[in-house]
Amino acid sequence: MTDLASFAALLSPEGQTLLAALRDHDPAQELAIASRLRRDHPAELVSAALGQARLRQRAVAKFGAEDAYRMYFTPNGVEQSTRASVGAHRAARFKALGVGSVADLCSGVGGDALALARAGISVLAVDRDPLTAEVARANAAALGLSDLVEVRCADVTEIDTSPYDAVFVDPARRGGRGRIFDPEAYSPPLSWAVETARGAPRAALKIAPGIPHETVPEEAEAEWISDGGDVKEAVLWFGTEPGARRATLLPSGAALTGRGLPDPAVRPVGRYLYEPDGAVIRAHLVAEVAEELDGGLVDATIAYVTSDVLTHVPYASAYEITDELPFNLKKLKALLREREVGVLTVKKRGSAVEPEEIRRKVKPKGPHSATVLLTRVAGAPTMLIGRPVRPEPS
Ligand SMILES: C[S@@+](CC[C@H](N)C(=O)[O-])C[C@H]1O[C@@H](n2cnc3c(N)ncnc32)[C@H](O)[C@@H]1O
Repeated sequence: MTDLASFAALLSPEGQTLLAALRDHDPAQELAIASRLRRDHPAELVSAALGQARLRQRAVAKFGAEDAYRMYFTPNGVEQSTRASVGAHRAARFKALGVGSVADLCSGVGGDALALARAGISVLAVDRDPLTAEVARANAAALGLSDLVEVRCADVTEIDTSPYDAVFVDPARRGGRGRIFDPEAYSPPLSWAVETARGAPRAALKIAPGIPHETVPEEAEAEWISDGGDVKEAVLWFGTEPGARRATLLPSGAALTGRGLPDPAVRPVGRYLYEPDGAVIRAHLVAEVAEELDGGLVDATIAYVTSDVLTHVPYASAYEITDELPFNLKKLKALLREREVGVLTVKKRGSAVEPEEIRRKVKPKGPHSATVLLTRVAGAPTMLIGRPVRPEPS
């Protein structure tokens, strides 16, 4: 059976029965479950359902259980799709710009297309892979969004985007041999995506967060997005604020925009140390955070901000520092023993030492907890010891 035929069989009533039976299945019991199901159902359909059930389990982290168990995936589709939180954020930005229709070029299994449709935007979702396009179509139907999503199996370079208010491109960044780093090796190449974006009233291009700032086209705004503290992606926006740099932190949606500030000055470690979110660092907005905190850097090359005042900002985690010592594991061990620290959190920036290695060597024991931040202070390997300070719940 071809992949397309076995996917169609999954959508049949028998396929749906099997998928329902495999919901939340225990992977350890897979062999036993499969052989039981094979007594009443064709072996090929059972293995297709089992494959799909595994993909759904993987997709829960991106789409949440409620949607993931209604949606369908391919192995590449689950890997490459935009997580729901990021898709919803982008869709809300399009909506706020007054966009009513989007040509989603390289739509995959529909991570972005579905989020756009949920925001009330009508979408043309284009993917050249026939199975991927079928899966996107099934996903729109499963989530009750078929009226807003037209799926077309085609090469994006052949699409006339002129009828749409905006274009969104999420090129494939994985080849047969894994992740692709050269933007011209993306499919389609980034230069094609930029040209297409330039020709549209508004556009957004999803790109790898590591994109060098100097390659961002002048007329684009660049936005780095993190979710739960992990940087997920960068987006180039066309038709918004040319040259702007923005960091957006999900799930709160807190956003920081660049003001073109020079690098912050280096200063001695104060009472507080701040660890900016990864999106802030990628967007080169550490100076903007330092200004809000009335702080400076501990080292010219390290994105740790220090200050004598405690200010809670969404873009950085705060630590109260109790000790500053030259890097020395024996000294760290002695100090933690004296303070009866049993729960040790190790953070590092600009240090090659592995946190696991530290915990193994200092063998923390006792009722108290502490955080050690391994870093460089004015060039010297240093251990900063302290504790996180979080805002009081309001
Ligand atoms: C990164 S994925 C898109 C993921 C999608 N945004 C989502 O959230 O589910 C890229 C997709 O582009 C498709 N693709 C690559 N080159 C293409 C082309 N020239 N025309 C149409 N689709 C293409 C691939 O088949 C793949 O499904």
